[in-house]
Amino acid sequence: MPSLSDKTKPSVLAIVIPTRDERDNVEPLYARVRAALGDTPWEIVFVDDDSQDGTALAVRALAARDPRVRLIWRVGRRGLSSACVEGIQATTAPIIAIADADMQHDEQLLPRMLSALQNEPVDVVIGSRYVAGGGVGDWNTGRSWLSAAGGWLGRRLIGVTVADPMSGFFMLRRETFEACMRRLTMIGFKILIDILASSPRTLRVKEIPYEFRQRQSGESKFDVAIGWEFLVLLIDKLVGHMLPVRFVLFAIVGGIGIVAHLVMLWLFLYAGLSFLVSQTAATLAAMVANFTLNNWLTYRDMRLTGVRWIGGLVSFCLICSVGAAANLGVADFLFGERHSAWWIAGLAGAVMSLVWNYTMTSIFTWRRAAT
Ligand code: GDD
Ligand code: MN
Repeated sequence: MPSLSDKTKPSVLAIVIPTRDERDNVEPLYARVRAALGDTPWEIVFVDDDSQDGTALAVRALAARDPRVRLIWRVGRRGLSSACVEGIQATTAPIIAIADADMQHDEQLLPRMLSALQNEPVDVVIGSRYVAGGGVGDWNTGRSWLSAAGGWLGRRLIGVTVADPMSGFFMLRRETFEACMRRLTMIGFKILIDILASSPRTLRVKEIPYEFRQRQSGESKFDVAIGWEFLVLLIDKLVGHMLPVRFVLFAIVGGIGIVAHLVMLWLFLYAGLSFLVSQTAATLAAMVANFTLNNWLTYRDMRLTGVRWIGGLVSFCLICSVGAAANLGVADFLFGERHSAWWIAGLAGAVMSLVWNYTMTSIFTWRRAAT
């Protein structure tokens, strides 16, 4: 039988690259990976979230020359973590690396990462900025601080003993991924923390230092929302097995709403309005604020805009009004008829309306079918 050329040998290593507007990085990244990996049979899976700059077309042009290059083109979806997961699931290579498209991660590490996985007792090899010899390059103080704080939180809450759990550059065996695949939260940027925290057994980690490089072209997609998504990931990892993470977020927003309500009530009273008028105004304002926050944070992946925003606000206010009535009914019954302690009656009423509001708005305000 004629021997297979390198390009048709089954891949030992698949490099999964999530992309969002990275057109000009595709070709140079490919050239660097090719140079770094030499004879090792490899493939690259680009997972593009419908970039507007033609990234997918650049990948396709490359794939026309080299079948080791593959493309997953996602439409109407967003998210670094979920893109990585789909990329991993689309390849059958036994070992998988995740790296950014912008060449900030040092591809020269790939052969060493691979050999560590093949020859040492480790499950995950991480390109690490925070072990001796590594660094964060030209990040500003704000971003460095955020990264360090995030790493600290990640280690505390999830019990991961890794210097750089926020790294977006790592390699692992397929079995390791598959063992935790169904437990992943898949929200946001931090797929490594998600994997480490979701694994049924403690993973053996090796960190190899590298210097985080400057972006070659295009822009970072990092923004405030990503910080929020990181918190959502942590909450899900902490309590997700007991409560749906959206419910927890909805409750947190509700708590913020109560504080906002009291502040506004105080302001209106201070301005000389009657109690009834002040309370009505504060209630309405709090409902609008709650709706806006939930639409922005709790349901950011199904965010309502334009006319649907108005429809959503109306249904949200109607549902919450019924929730408030139920709250009063339950609390009054417990306090008046059952002679429960005031705080038990109050709490039961609040929980009652929270569950009602959450359930009903998830069905009528942010219904999946409408998106
Ligand atoms: N498919 C897809 N969908 N790709 C995305 C999305 C998305 O919604 N958002 C970002 N990407 C791609 C970018 O195109 C890039 O290839 C990679 O994910 C990382 O995005 P950057 O915008 O370059 O992130 P960064 O440099 O600020 O942070 C990265 O490096 C850090 C250090 O390793 C991320 O990987 C962080 O998670 C990591 O901590
Ligand atoms: Mn980057």
